[in-house]
Amino acid sequence: MAETKKLLRSLAGETLDVPPVWLMRQAGRYLPEYRATRAEAGDFLSLCYNSDLAAEVTLQPIRRYGFDAAILFADILLLPQALGAELWFETGEGPRLSTITGAEGLKALKGKDDIHDHMAPVYETVRILARELPKETTLIGFAGAPWTVATYMIAGRGTPDQAPAHALKAGDRATFEALIDLLTESTIEYLSKQVEAGAEVVKIFDSWAGSLKGEDFTRYALEPARRIIAALKQRHPGLPCIAFPREAGENYIGFARATGADCVALDNSVDADWAAAKVQVDGCVQGNMAPDLMVTGGQALIDETKRIKAAFSKGPHIFNLGHGITPDADPENVHVMLEALRG
Ligand code: CP3
Repeated sequence: MAETKKLLRSLAGETLDVPPVWLMRQAGRYLPEYRATRAEAGDFLSLCYNSDLAAEVTLQPIRRYGFDAAILFADILLLPQALGAELWFETGEGPRLSTITGAEGLKALKGKDDIHDHMAPVYETVRILARELPKETTLIGFAGAPWTVATYMIAGRGTPDQAPAHALKAGDRATFEALIDLLTESTIEYLSKQVEAGAEVVKIFDSWAGSLKGEDFTRYALEPARRIIAALKQRHPGLPCIAFPREAGENYIGFARATGADCVALDNSVDADWAAAKVQVDGCVQGNMAPDLMVTGGQALIDETKRIKAAFSKGPHIFNLGHGITPDADPENVHVMLEALRG
């Protein structure tokens, strides 16, 4: 049977008149129904590990907007927790983790095959979604890329310049590389189980890829993505994979070819016409409208939606933002964007 899900058609390389669309962080604090379910769960992590409620918040934006894809509700930092790191969220500040400063911290972590009991509720969320999603909606599973997850595990928090991770890389490369290796192997096992549970596509979020330069980018952003995608495709032939090496700049060029990704997600610091010429030539791209337009709205939102659609109209494209929709976005602006896109 010919593929009917629009997102899968774009990932297979088809150019569509109206691109499929979803938004990073589409289940999030800008939606009143998300805030209500999160309050019911108690806190963010309790929501992630409550399969029924995590499935519910995943479905909320699908009901409200009819997006072409749903992304599993979870977080990239659940994997460090499954490996034995401590994890908590400071209200209004973001994630906090126990830190890894050297070989001792690394040795205390569990192995790649020891994560599945901890992740069982996440796999159950995927199974519920595979049952409950509308038949035209694609289910995306995800994980953080090893470098991005490592930056949080090393620093114990988000950092503007990832300095602690760069310092460990320079000062104790063996420990740093062993951590990247463990995360690469664990991510293969984690994503593989998501696929077995019903995820149809996987996306690898490398939010801090832009701070890796030169050879470091090849070794710690490109190579782990290549290994993860190769292993997943070997186990699950034909599995479409989206890679998001955020703020990679010139390194977006050739990234899909080098890693085997079916689609490269673009952040909004790159120009859409440039990306169409340099990146979309290799296949599907996703992106890349600036998230702040979902706050400010108006004619600028309509114009920019149409400009990005037109820039990528000669090849396979998935419309999205260049980063997550923010808590201060106006839910009405999502309708404005969809109307401008779909007509
Ligand atoms: O996109 C989705 O809707 C799927 C779910 C998802 C979340 N986080 C839920 C979430 C996904 C794919 C992520 C990825 C993620 N998590 C990344 C990579 C993408 C990116 O944003 O760069 C990163 C770096 C994280 C780590 C993380 N989680 C941070 C730094 C924070 C705090 C910042 C913030 O927005 O509050 C989170 C919390 C988080 N993850 C929220 C959501 C909906 C907000 C939590 C809340 O409800 O308070």
